[in-house]
Amino acid sequence: MTARIIDGKAVARHLRAEYASRVERLKSQHGVQPGIAVILVGDNPASQVYVRNKIRACQETGIHSELHQMSADTPETELLARIDSLNADPKVHGILVQLPLPPHIVVPHVLERIAVEKDVDGFHLYNVGGLVTGNTVFPPCTPYGVQKLLEYEKVEIAGRNVVVVGASNIVGKPMALMLMQQDATVCICHKLTRDLGQFTMLADILVVAAGVPELIVPQMVKTGVVVIDVGINRLPDGRLVGDVDFEGVRKKASLISPVPGGVGPMTITMLLHNTLISAERSLGITPKDAPTA
Ligand code: GUN
Repeated sequence: MTARIIDGKAVARHLRAEYASRVERLKSQHGVQPGIAVILVGDNPASQVYVRNKIRACQETGIHSELHQMSADTPETELLARIDSLNADPKVHGILVQLPLPPHIVVPHVLERIAVEKDVDGFHLYNVGGLVTGNTVFPPCTPYGVQKLLEYEKVEIAGRNVVVVGASNIVGKPMALMLMQQDATVCICHKLTRDLGQFTMLADILVVAAGVPELIVPQMVKTGVVVIDVGINRLPDGRLVGDVDFEGVRKKASLISPVPGGVGPMTITMLLHNTLISAERSLGITPKDAPTA
């Protein structure tokens, strides 16, 4: 068996085109342009690249974006005051504080200050907790992107064995909860899991977000598995690889996401989606693709 390869770029392009036309409709029919405020504290080079990419994607989709650049020594109180004013700003439907933050700032203070209905990153404790009951206002963007990819590829979830490798708060744990909500049988493996292969071998659907280059090799998966690789790792020779040995595992899988070009393009796409949904909700519109709140 050789796997069909998921084209994340094409799925993202398709979804972004749909979002752009919905943005246009909001502007022309309601005079409202969806808007996002991105707060960047300090000058972390990786964060600067991520923020630039998010802002470019907003521009391409017709979403208003504003960058709030604050110096690394900004007191926490000043950052919280900025969030308060954005919470009250009707032009802003989404607020994102880029992480990591400088060490003197307490991250939960910041994330919990963002109004839940503007928390397009899905990091507010209410949104995190809402995943348990399926009542989140906004799911976090990376696992949401994986869910959309599986949906787009018509992968059946209910009753299947899903193994999630990696138990981070941003990807692994929310991913597991979202798939449980769809009636999968879910197992989460992490750094201390003994004999990882014994678990991954049971997976009908394997989602890997471990941050370990090429951790998953063919002997660890069963024939016909669906593999979603969330990892992005730069090797010493400069190559970009995922957490899955792509060339090996694709020979056993039925469907596999590549790195790059798989999950990556979906993360920002879901940020655009959440911002659009927030603007639509502010007008009393409940689109069919909105998460249940
Ligand atoms: N830093 C790395 N990834 C993310 C993300 O998805 N959201 C935010 N706010 N910060 C990040």
